[in-house]
Amino acid sequence: MTKPEQEETITSTWSNPLRVPCDLRLPRIADPCTLVIFGVTGDLARKKLLPAIYDLANRGLLPPGFGLIGFGRREWSDDDFKQWAQSYIQEHCRTPFHQSTWEQLSHGFYFVQGTFDDFNAFVRLKQRVLTVDHECGTYSNHAFYMSIPPRAFSLVSHQLAAAELTKHPSDTWQRVIIEKPFGHDLASAQELDKTVTSVFGAESIFRIDHYLGKETVQNLLALRFTNMLFEPIWNSHYVDHVQITMAEDFGIGSRAGYYDGVGAARDVIQNHLLQLLTLTAMEKPASFTSQDLSKEKINVLSAVRLPQDLARYTARGQYSAGWQGQEAVCGYLNEDGVSPESTTETYAALRLDIDTPRWNGTPFYLRAGKRLGKRVTEIAMIFKQIPQPLFDSVVEGNVGHNALVFRIQPNEGITLRFGSKVPGSRIDIRDVNMDFNYGQAFTEDSPEAYERLILDVFLGDAPLFPTSQEVDLSWKILDPIEQFWASQGQPEQYRSGTWGPHSADMLMMNDNRAWRMP
Ligand code: BG6
Repeated sequence: MTKPEQEETITSTWSNPLRVPCDLRLPRIADPCTLVIFGVTGDLARKKLLPAIYDLANRGLLPPGFGLIGFGRREWSDDDFKQWAQSYIQEHCRTPFHQSTWEQLSHGFYFVQGTFDDFNAFVRLKQRVLTVDHECGTYSNHAFYMSIPPRAFSLVSHQLAAAELTKHPSDTWQRVIIEKPFGHDLASAQELDKTVTSVFGAESIFRIDHYLGKETVQNLLALRFTNMLFEPIWNSHYVDHVQITMAEDFGIGSRAGYYDGVGAARDVIQNHLLQLLTLTAMEKPASFTSQDLSKEKINVLSAVRLPQDLARYTARGQYSAGWQGQEAVCGYLNEDGVSPESTTETYAALRLDIDTPRWNGTPFYLRAGKRLGKRVTEIAMIFKQIPQPLFDSVVEGNVGHNALVFRIQPNEGITLRFGSKVPGSRIDIRDVNMDFNYGQAFTEDSPEAYERLILDVFLGDAPLFPTSQEVDLSWKILDPIEQFWASQGQPEQYRSGTWGPHSADMLMMNDNRAWRMP
């Protein structure tokens, strides 16, 4: 084998644009490293991060030299931490729990007790990191996961720098993983970026948007850019409008501390839904490198135009008491930890236009809400009706508006909706669905988003992480809407278990359109 061929074989799929064949049978295994999790006792770490680490270990994707240090307030020994972590991993892991995998993995689990404002705790952390490097052979490669409230990001970054935890030999790496929301508006996002960049350097920052780690979201790119079928119709000549929906049937649960004052738009539209919009609307990137991908996403975000009339083309709501499945549930204002005067929205919808040649004249409608009728995330491309249909019945109702729907979750897959003749002696047309189901087509379960993203951080693969410019542009889109809503008082109430406020339906009716009923 010649040298260039050898090199291609070991290149990862993302850094190696689809053009170059590489050996996909080779697992992507990271360098030996230590992961430090701040906020390790929080909801995210318990339910997603620790199980994802275990699942990676179970799939043989963690290096033999791997350490994990939990940082938290509790007075725990390493063994207390291991026992506690095991119970959550057993409850939430995706792959089968094997005692042998767990024993090998937990051998590298440690706990450091402390608070973010206590410098001595960071000195202890440093000593522990050095010990783990020595005991587990993790070779001074360190990742710091900030699974903490955004207001603490700056403080923790400064403490890490002061304790010299960000210094490392030149042939090793230090990376920081930051959970969303990255700031609460453009100004705070830029401020935060300045701080974190000054401590870690831009290329070491990995901003998590877990939607980009979802298999079906990545599949959107694969489908768009590996099939000739879609490209010719992927534009405003054929697409009437696009609906991006993220509906959840549950409320805020015990997350009032985070959610109240943030609301649906900052929680999921600024990040997940705008990222879905960029992947749907962007031009083909020159390659799948972070730089090329981000360039195209930035082009889309820069071309987004807000509606002039925000009262008409945005909507927000707050859930009132109602039903979640068979269960009677309270309204948002009665949730534990929510102020009875809160104006935080639990539902948000808006229309955006994209001023590019491809999308000129095709509006994108985004909606997200809690306590809606069903849990579903999807991107629906709704096509124009055929001009001069041959059969009268084609033009009745919604028939004839073909739809291509990417089901992000649940029932991951794609639905193509088109009109077909109803069997019989007359020509009556009715819409039918053609379904591709991920679960049936592939025998393997999809990995969880966090498995993919954590592994990418260890490998230093950045394409699935939004850049600071993408984050800034997303806030630029949202800030005027937030300012407008702030001047509008209380959001409209909608009953739990329904499909959101009346104003959201009006938003579509203004354009003679209607939301899809997923
Ligand atoms: C998080 C939001 O980013 O995404 C939550 O903070 C939301 O409010 C969650 O419930 C949804 O994630 P998923 O993967 O279950 O769709």
